[in-house]
Amino acid sequence: MTSQDANGTPDPNAIAPAGPAAQDGPAGGPARPDMTPPAAPGTPQGPTAPAAAPAPSPRTRGRGVTARGRVAARASVPPPPGPPKGPASGMPSGADPQAAPETKNDADPAASGPTPPAPGAAGTPEGSPAPASGVPEAAGSLEAGAEAADGDGAPEARAQPAAPSSAKTASAFKNLFGVLRSSSPMALEGRVTRMAGLVIEGSGPAASVGEICLVDMPGGQVLEAEAVGFKEAAIQLMPIGDMTGLTPGSRIRATGSPARVRVGPGLLGRILDGRGEPMDGLGPVEFEESYPVRALPGNPMDRARVLTPVDVGVRCINALLTLGRGQRVGIFAGSGVGKSTLMGMIARHMRADVNVIALVGERGREVREFIEKDLGPEGLARSVVVAATSEQPALVRMRGAYVGTAVAEYFRDRGKDVILMMDSATRFAYAAREVGLSVGEPATTRGYTPSVFALLPQLLERAGSWESGSITGIYTVLVEGDDMNEPVADSMRSILDGHLVLRREMASRNIFPAVDILSSISRLMPDITTDEHRAAAARFKDILAVYVKNEDMVNIGAYQKGASREVDEAVALYPRFVEFLKQPTGQGQSLGESVAALMQVTQATRPDPAAGGGPEPLRRRA
Ligand SMILES: Nc1ncnc2c1ncn2[C@@H]1O[C@H](COP(=O)(O)OP(=O)(O)OP(=O)(O)O)[C@@H](O)[C@H]1O
Ligand SMILES: [Mg+2]
Repeated sequence: MTSQDANGTPDPNAIAPAGPAAQDGPAGGPARPDMTPPAAPGTPQGPTAPAAAPAPSPRTRGRGVTARGRVAARASVPPPPGPPKGPASGMPSGADPQAAPETKNDADPAASGPTPPAPGAAGTPEGSPAPASGVPEAAGSLEAGAEAADGDGAPEARAQPAAPSSAKTASAFKNLFGVLRSSSPMALEGRVTRMAGLVIEGSGPAASVGEICLVDMPGGQVLEAEAVGFKEAAIQLMPIGDMTGLTPGSRIRATGSPARVRVGPGLLGRILDGRGEPMDGLGPVEFEESYPVRALPGNPMDRARVLTPVDVGVRCINALLTLGRGQRVGIFAGSGVGKSTLMGMIARHMRADVNVIALVGERGREVREFIEKDLGPEGLARSVVVAATSEQPALVRMRGAYVGTAVAEYFRDRGKDVILMMDSATRFAYAAREVGLSVGEPATTRGYTPSVFALLPQLLERAGSWESGSITGIYTVLVEGDDMNEPVADSMRSILDGHLVLRREMASRNIFPAVDILSSISRLMPDITTDEHRAAAARFKDILAVYVKNEDMVNIGAYQKGASREVDEAVALYPRFVEFLKQPTGQGQSLGESVAALMQVTQATRPDPAAGGGPEPLRRRA
């Protein structure tokens, strides 16, 4: 697009093909106030501007070209035929009226040289000399500057004939172009040229990926958007807010900064939206500093080993799948099996300095339910909740996950042991897929784009144990179609330090939490438990495995009691095991109590078959 603009070729993406007069000035009809910046006094705009100027509209085009391209475009435009005539106008017809103040602001005062050009009496823009001859001096100088920018010509040689008045003036212009080149105003602004699905395309600014840009909306509102990619010369942005009302040609400004979230101890007990702003109606939060939303996980050598068990308040996890402080674990299940409920239980009963709960892409109804039912006032007091629900734009949902993680990092850096809970990591992956597809990434398995599988470890690796503090990460993973090998579940399992699998068959037998002990694993349990504890857990799993293996035989009556001592024992102990696994949501059990209960249930003596002991086998459900 740059070269096209420079040549004056119409840009298919340009919003308004008309020249400046048609778009900006009264001659071209009423200008929209939101799109029309104040004209510099005396610029050849409005009624005095050449109506038939062949140059592309500076509104839609000038901002998008490079300094080199725009300068060349200006230089190629002949002087306007009508008044203001002659070189006194200084600025060629294709010039962007905004360039004048920007030039002024950006230019180093020293660059203007000892004889700064005086503003022309007939509306010469600031910084333009008033040449004596009929040659448009500024245009000539601009051309020289363009050549200089191209590096293929001697600017002095071209500039001198155009500025015979003073070699100093030529030198000043040379300096000025040096400044212009290094401080391209196009780097800071652009215009909306296209909307494609969820993506806004603009002719600028030259923002870096991840940088926050501001899009001017009608009525003075400003839409925050994040740079997510480039397509040829166009920048691609995704909104962090509602795009309704966005118009073509709207101004886009770069902020020069990636997204950050404001943090402080005042966040405790507060509920934030996906952008990190309070949404609980309790007024402003006292922030201390800001943290980058998308931070990198850091040097693995700075991590501390996970050596301390953490008490999650849920018996079966404490005893059989013990988690460590700083461990990252996923709760995997199909829809409606109890992931959110289990996470709520953990949030309620777990002991940690700070809970950070990120509700990402879930139902709006569940936010309040979670806060009031699961956390309660006491739990909320030591928690920070970040809620980016399913109806929010994809980037806001992603941002919710990042903001939650950044808040956890803030408290970790203050020496706290933090529990970070995310419901759900799969919805984060969905949002990342949406973004990836919108910017044209190829779809791979199940429509996921490659970036999803790059972003997941970047997010999950931010939890862990560090010298300063720890972030224990608990992420729910929605397993599509109960297929544990679907791409996101598979990827998550490989990144995390453990997975708690919830089984639909257990939920349908009213065994809650429906943790399938035999399919679940805590990779760090061997490092953080005693030999005695591990032996008891191993015995529990062995007996359970025997029962599960023979369950069908037992249930159809094909197993004869006494045929196997092992199976008899498993059948006898199974009901106690089920009781051990079941736990009402409102009751927590400490780590110590959980281990003691495990010892008790696994040391139970086998009932004497002669005494007619042994439980009734489970009846199979239809
Ligand atoms: N511990 C529990 N005790 C009793 N009932 C439970 C328990 N866990 C889940 N349930 C039942 O299962 C239903 C679904 O639970 P939940 O919303 O936690 O599932 P989910 O896996 O998060 O679902 P989704 O994937 O749709 O978000 C609950 O409404 C409740 O009826
Ligand atoms: Mg849920």
